[in-house]
Amino acid sequence: MHDARALVAAIGLTAGAALILLLHRRLRRPLSHQVRTTARFHDSNDFDWAELAARVEPLVRPPPEALKEVACASVPPPRTDDQIARWQQHFLKHAEAPTPFFKERRSLLEEFPRLCAARLRVLEVGCGNGSSALSVLRGNMGAQVHATDPSPAAVEQTCEAIGVAGFGARLTTEVQRLPTVPCSARHGPFDVVMILFTLSAVPGDDDAALLVHASKLLRPGGAVLVRDYGLYDMRHRKDARTARLLRARPVPEYLRPGGMHRRYYSLEHLGALGASAGLVVEESRYLCVRLRNEKRDLNMDRVYVHAVLAKPG
Ligand SMILES: C[S@@+](CC[C@H](N)C(=O)[O-])C[C@H]1O[C@@H](n2cnc3c(N)ncnc32)[C@H](O)[C@@H]1O
Repeated sequence: MHDARALVAAIGLTAGAALILLLHRRLRRPLSHQVRTTARFHDSNDFDWAELAARVEPLVRPPPEALKEVACASVPPPRTDDQIARWQQHFLKHAEAPTPFFKERRSLLEEFPRLCAARLRVLEVGCGNGSSALSVLRGNMGAQVHATDPSPAAVEQTCEAIGVAGFGARLTTEVQRLPTVPCSARHGPFDVVMILFTLSAVPGDDDAALLVHASKLLRPGGAVLVRDYGLYDMRHRKDARTARLLRARPVPEYLRPGGMHRRYYSLEHLGALGASAGLVVEESRYLCVRLRNEKRDLNMDRVYVHAVLAKPG
């Protein structure tokens, strides 16, 4: 009887230790061994943007006191280098997560056909964890990508994701040293510069300065490809309620709870930024994507801006 109890206790202890070890390993497991999923890079017109704008504009319109605060400049604008430090924290945290957020953007080449060209040299500005660079390298065997980000952790994660997929020979990377200079001039010129969900993260006028530098790194006839958050996106509505307004015009800019900056672009403003950078609008549209949460019986209306800004040849 005594022996049987001891045996049960021993089995219990062993199982407990094994569970702790398993959990520990899972937390420490490198990115290369973790589950990856794929994401559709939506190109949808699920609803009418003008109709959404008419309905949502009164909901996101800043109250007079917020406008007054902005006008008196009583809200200090976040600094770009402070935001970069926050992105570094973000990527470090995600590297430690049991299942880091990595969704390869499989349909990127369909949505930006310029990415299919032969012997393509691509610069990706603000590459994050490499989910777009990977898609380009997988989809176009003649493409070379130079991926940069001011966060060293992001660059490291990009190298790892692409190395594991076997495309490392066609990737070069660089940790961006200056907040508005995407990479050193010796790497250019490029056929295409991708800037995906990055301009909105850059406060004040530094998004414009980043685009000017990106344009300088393009060869004549090349193009900057942009996707980013659009005016009246679901998150815009949330930020209008919960975040601190930093600027109302030309497009709204917020400091979100948690300290991250976010801007919501209009096509007009994106076109104007392009023009200031010497680029002409080749394509620009709102992507209106309706996601459905059946459990909560909820439609989630996402709005993105999509633009191809070309450098005259
Ligand atoms: C929302 S994430 C997008 C990442 C990636 N492009 C994607 O679509 O998954 C914003 C990225 O911009 C980078 N970033 C922040 N400030 C930047 C700046 N001044 N210049 C270039 N990239 C910046 C961040 O480190 C981060 O990787």
